[in-house]
Amino acid sequence: MSRKQILAGNWKMNQTITEARNWIRIYQAGQKKGFRTDVLLFPSFTTLYPVSKEAMKAGITLGAQNIHEAEHGAFTGEISAKMLIEAGAKWVLVGHSERRTLFGETDDRINLKVRRALFSELRVILCVGETLEERNAGTHQEVVRQQVINGLQDVHKSDLAHVVIAYEPVWAIGTGKTATPEDAQEMHAAIRQIINSEKGGEIAEQMRILYGGSVNKENAAALFACPDIDGGLVGGASLKVESFLSIFRAL
Ligand code: 13P
Repeated sequence: MSRKQILAGNWKMNQTITEARNWIRIYQAGQKKGFRTDVLLFPSFTTLYPVSKEAMKAGITLGAQNIHEAEHGAFTGEISAKMLIEAGAKWVLVGHSERRTLFGETDDRINLKVRRALFSELRVILCVGETLEERNAGTHQEVVRQQVINGLQDVHKSDLAHVVIAYEPVWAIGTGKTATPEDAQEMHAAIRQIINSEKGGEIAEQMRILYGGSVNKENAAALFACPDIDGGLVGGASLKVESFLSIFRAL
């Protein structure tokens, strides 16, 4: 089964509206048409709407970096699915390790967010990954297994077509250390196996699983050549359009 690859840029708390517009303009000029890859960008909330038209013209689909699990209500500083959709988002990142560690998001909360997003017809990238301590202790497979199972609890099979998993080892995010293609492939295959036993073989074969964590133009080709790696979720190297385009070419 051939899965359509995804290259996604998570801009985190970077890029103003003006910077994002410039990025998209240069991207469009440097990009060839007719490619068989989904290109997704996750800018800040305030940048989504102002760049939505340009992004569409450039063949980029927009997503948000966070969502609140409630439909609406008294949640100062939060953002709802409906607001994101109106602003032009088609996707949302859920469970990023920065949300888990810096903002205390638990698996339960992450599961509620996943379900709210899917119920609202947003597509989801569910991020999972172990810390260095967990990897050194040899518990990484079990940690990721729990994150996948808990994150997707009560998500119906038919909704899973709208879910992508991103394996992002915490120790590789923003550190310049990447998982070796062998280690990444091993975890991706394990994740596909978990989906297989929890949700069935058909969806396991279809589901796209991305690698994230210090992806750059040097290491991208070897990672993306692995059979269970269906693309990348790129942080730092997505901020410069030239390096994002170089990673794109590695796909
Ligand atoms: P870096 O590519 O900067 O390591 O970030 C990865 C990431 O967190 C993407 O979501």
